[in-house]
Amino acid sequence: MVVPRVQAAIAHAFGEEFRDTDPVVRPSQFADIQINAAMALAKKVGLPPRDAAARIVEALELDGLCTGVEISGPGFINLTFDGTWIEELLNAQASRPQGGPETQAQRVVVDYSSPNVAKEMHVGHLRTTVVGDSLVRVLEALGHTVIRQNHIGDWGTPFGMLIEHWLEIGEDSPEAALLVEDPSAFYQAARAKFDGDPDFATRARLRVVSLQSAHEETLEVWQRLVDHSKLYFNAIYATLGVSLEDDHIAGESSYDPHLAQLCQELEERGLARISEGALCTFPAGFKGRDGEPLPLIIRKSDGGYGYATTDLATIRYRVHELHADRILYVVGAPQNVHLRMVIETAREAGWLPDTVEATHVQIGNVLGEDGKILKSRSGTPVKLMALLDEAVDRARAVVESSRPDLSQEERAVTARQVGIGAVKYADLAVGHDTEYVFDFDRMLALSGNTGPYVQYAAARIRSILRKAEEAAAASAELRGVAGEPTAEARIAVVEPAERALALHLLEYGATLRRVGDLLEPHRLCSYLFELSQLFTSFYDQCPVLKADESVRQSRLALCGLVLHRLSEGLDLLGIETPENM
Ligand code: ARG
Repeated sequence: MVVPRVQAAIAHAFGEEFRDTDPVVRPSQFADIQINAAMALAKKVGLPPRDAAARIVEALELDGLCTGVEISGPGFINLTFDGTWIEELLNAQASRPQGGPETQAQRVVVDYSSPNVAKEMHVGHLRTTVVGDSLVRVLEALGHTVIRQNHIGDWGTPFGMLIEHWLEIGEDSPEAALLVEDPSAFYQAARAKFDGDPDFATRARLRVVSLQSAHEETLEVWQRLVDHSKLYFNAIYATLGVSLEDDHIAGESSYDPHLAQLCQELEERGLARISEGALCTFPAGFKGRDGEPLPLIIRKSDGGYGYATTDLATIRYRVHELHADRILYVVGAPQNVHLRMVIETAREAGWLPDTVEATHVQIGNVLGEDGKILKSRSGTPVKLMALLDEAVDRARAVVESSRPDLSQEERAVTARQVGIGAVKYADLAVGHDTEYVFDFDRMLALSGNTGPYVQYAAARIRSILRKAEEAAAASAELRGVAGEPTAEARIAVVEPAERALALHLLEYGATLRRVGDLLEPHRLCSYLFELSQLFTSFYDQCPVLKADESVRQSRLALCGLVLHRLSEGLDLLGIETPENM
């Protein structure tokens, strides 16, 4: 809430070009916050840091918001807020506890998850799914219209052999069920036939031709195979609690009818030319190791279209049919050059106007303890479902021993929420473009920046509020009156721990907006982690249930607001808040 004011002051003092400067607002030992921007700005504006700080203070419009403004040390600006002002804002939040919608609502198309038919989803897909789902939730909470697009890999030459295999084994066979239970095994079986049986290979090749020429019967079989595979995706999505549905699927196949025309257009307009038999574009700014322009192949020498061609088609569709203002590709980092070349080609072709932003949200690899891409012991891709099951099993072991008082059912629910939450949180808590090591012990730890830590803080507040309610009901019964719920009390901000908690609560809206602008869910994780820590110190230092009635009401209301923020924040990460933990 002070950040925009400080930015305005900086722009006023040094010129508009400095408006986007990070004001470097940090907690302070001596005041509520300190602004450290003056030090970095000093050189740029040619002033000693303390003078730069003075200029910022002069321009700062605080209209009664602060009781103390002070320049200290080399040029820190220390601000102490007026207590009444903090209380006003906080209570306004408490009565309308939404993050606050974005003023400039956009249509945002988000391409995420995007697994491949008849292949195991790997941990990379897990992460594009989890990060993408968090981004769509945050963008929706900010008031944007979000259009989810699941760009599944459902087209291409392997489908010849997959369809032939599928027809041979029969749809109701146990081998066909592998498509849902162990897609890699299904794929391998088809592959083995293709490699070992020349007749099968011939049939598979003919099948590709028939598929590409949209032969009705073949298309029908292909559709049944894809539908079967969706059962597998949907089982994973349901386990993860991800908001993707069948309606969001717009796979590679859906663009096939437009590819020939698309290539022709690029060729006619001189943007694509034949190079070594293939039709290629050479988008500006991309050079190979030899310094020569890098080609983006849009039609192979055998006449087939590839991944780049369909991705060009996604841009046209998303701009012209879906009317996107912003397009996000939540896709693995190794595909960065591919996507940037596609985006640049689309810009050159005029399919992607400058007013529409297209961004590759790069997803870093998930590594095993050996520092290499996570694989199972035998070196095969890790089965995602088994990984999720193990997370829940491990969480269950903890809950069984820590909460014997809960029913079997309650423990199972908590175990699922904590196990899945831990995996998702680990995916989200580090920058989306950085790699991280998949480590069950670390992600399930009850301390540190983990899902369980934040969930625990929330569950603890739930239990405090339950106790307060029980006590209120008991005393109402004693007095012989109906246990009417009391109106939410006003929150008084008195103790330092209350003040620190209050100030952090006031940063919620700004944090969400930054997550939406920068596309960085890890900022929301850090925010919630800090909120949990601040709550813990508040609860250590300020008695709640045992406080005098008016103080108790105020503190209970504060607890209520923290719980609201924690569970809303977790929900935006796609993580559930346990009732008990
Ligand atoms: N199916 C691709 C893969 O598994 C990801 C697709 C991402 N989206 C896109 N529009 N290229 O790597």
